[in-house]
Parts: sequence; C-alpha cells; structure tokens
Amino acid sequence: MKALAVFPSSREVRLIDQPEPVIAGPTEVKLRILEAGICGTDREIASFIYGAPPVNSPHLVIGHEALGEVIDVGSGVTGLAPGDLAVLMVRRPCPHDHCIPCRSGRQDFCITGDFTERGIKGAHGYMTEFVVDDERYIVKVPKELREVAVLLEPLSVAEKAAEQVRIVAERLPGYLKVDPRNFRAVVLGAGPIGLLGAMKLVHSKFDTYVYSRGKADSPNVRIVSAIGAHFISSEEHPPADLAKMLGNIIVVYEATGVAKISFDVLSVLGVNGIFIFTGVPGVTAPIEIDAEQIMRNLVLKNQVICGTVNAGCSSFEEGVDDLGSFMQRFPAAVRALITARITLDDARDAVLSRGGIKSVITAA
Ligand code: BGC
Ligand code: ZN
Repeated sequence: MKALAVFPSSREVRLIDQPEPVIAGPTEVKLRILEAGICGTDREIASFIYGAPPVNSPHLVIGHEALGEVIDVGSGVTGLAPGDLAVLMVRRPCPHDHCIPCRSGRQDFCITGDFTERGIKGAHGYMTEFVVDDERYIVKVPKELREVAVLLEPLSVAEKAAEQVRIVAERLPGYLKVDPRNFRAVVLGAGPIGLLGAMKLVHSKFDTYVYSRGKADSPNVRIVSAIGAHFISSEEHPPADLAKMLGNIIVVYEATGVAKISFDVLSVLGVNGIFIFTGVPGVTAPIEIDAEQIMRNLVLKNQVICGTVNAGCSSFEEGVDDLGSFMQRFPAAVRALITARITLDDARDAVLSRGGIKSVITAA
C-alpha cells in the first residue's frame, strides 16, 4: 500500500510502498483510511524541523488527523464493528510504570517524554491506505459526520483547551453560575485550530472575537461571521486596542504559534483571565516582550497561563458531540474549513505548499 513518508537523513519526502498492516492482537482494529488532514505540524516535519521516525526506521510515515472505516476487528473488540466510521487518537503511552498519566489513559500529560505520537514522533502515521491499532485509541463517529469528521483531531485540541479552562475557572467563586455571554473570549489566529476553537467558544456561549491578520472578505473571516463570532483585524488594531474595544478579556485561546503577538495580547488579558497556548513556535532569536507589565498583571489580576498539547479520549468524544452540534448550527461554516481535497498521489505537493484553510487527502 502507498504511504507518504519523510526521510530525515536524506531530507526527502516521497510516496513509498509498504506492507499492509495486519491485526496481531485480540483488541486490534483494522481501518481503511478515508480521509487524512494536513496541518502545520506535517509541514514542519516535512521541512525536518520537527518529528522523529520510529526506532530502526529511516523514515516516518506522516499524518495524524484521520478518519477511517473499520474493515476488520480482533476477537476481543467490543466497541467497533466492520462498517463503522472512526477517528484515531495521536499519542500512545510511554512504557514506564511510574508515569501515572500514561497508566491512566492520559498520555497527553505524560511525564517522561517517552510517549510516541503516530505520524509525528516514533510511530508511523495515517497518510496511507490502511492502519491497525488498539481499539482504545479509536473513537467511533456517527455516519452523519462523515464529510467533516476528519476535523475531529484538530477539534480535540480546542476541546482539551476548553477542559483546561473549565478546570482553571473552578477557582473562581460563582464563575460557573455566571452566564458566559457576559464574558469576552479572544481567539488568536484564524487557521483551522483557531476557527474550530472559535466554534467551541461560540457554542459554549462566550462572546467570541477572532483577532488575526486577513481581509474582511477572506474565506476565514467569512467563517468567523457565519458562526456568530466577531473579527478584529490585527493589521488595523494593535493588541492594546483589544482591551479598549472589548473590556475585560476573560479567555484568550492562542492558535497562531507566533510568540510576539501572543505575548503582546497576554499583556491585555483581563482580571481573573486565562490564556491558553496551543501553538508551537519555531525556536529563533529571542524577542522583546513587556515582561514587567505581564508579570504585574499576572499577580494583580490573578491570571493563569496554560499550555496544552494533544488530547485525551474524552476530548475526542466531546468533539464528536460538538461537531454534531456545529453541523446543526452552522453546517456551511464547518464544511468551509475544508478548502481542498486531493488524493494520496498529490499529497506530497500539498504538504510542501500552503494555501487554503485545511487540505484533506481523500481515498481514491
Ligand atoms: C497534534 C497533537 C500533537 C502535537 C505535538 C499537533 O499537531 O495535533 O496531537 O500532540 O502536534 O506533537
Ligand atoms: Zn508517560
């Protein structure tokens, strides 16, 4: 079967032929990959600044956002049957007994760093034709969501962020009893992670503003309006304007991977505010930030800065529910996130170029 692989030592990205995987244990499931999304992480791996092949493999098959159809199950599989649609989680636990997160199914909080991530770190991914994995890493998806279910992995990032916001918010007396409509939330960035985060915030009833580059008539900005969020152009308004325009900003959900703009917005976060980082910047020269102002605010305004990576099973399951709701509320906006569909034969070029919101590889 075909797969798209990255060879770090020879700096090549190309289609390879590899044997089809087979079910080797009672709880394993075999899926035919129907769709695989391309994201910024894939582009970084394909430019050799991130990612690692499995031990003893010269190459890494990339891809970590996938929708598949179950075609075979081991004798001990209980929750999935052939014909079901399902998405795959990304991270697999480390082997260490003392890693309580990994031993508890929360490898997204692994403490040892010896986890693997399919398509990213130490394990082959999903830009291929068939995949086998344990049923515990596979989440069933209703058939009605087939055309957009490939978005569930990026949505799981927003779902985990929302989980973190809920946990942090519990420190505030009465917070959860207050109507979130009174709360201003800002999303930084209007790429897929930002727009899915904005959908989640709108659906959680926050008054949601997307702060990003881009023109008012761009497809990204049209999605912002279509879901009932508001767009603020970062080209027209510096971060200092945000506080003046919005008052107390209670949540900032960062989805740019750019440190400068993120820390500039952090300096206008409101009282009792929570700032969630999801982007992974490249490591370049140090930048200037207003550290004293930020530190004063952190203390005097009880602020929390929280990074979040990857997502647990519950975030995928919540994503399934929410994606269903998004498709009821604003189906055209959800569909508009997928701006190109290509085949595996053209995947290399799509990974090595950019453009559009989300490109998806579709089985021929
Ligand atoms: C993926 C996560 C992963 C992270 C870091 C992201 O693109 O969505 O699942 O944990 O990269 O490797
Ligand atoms: Zn671990």
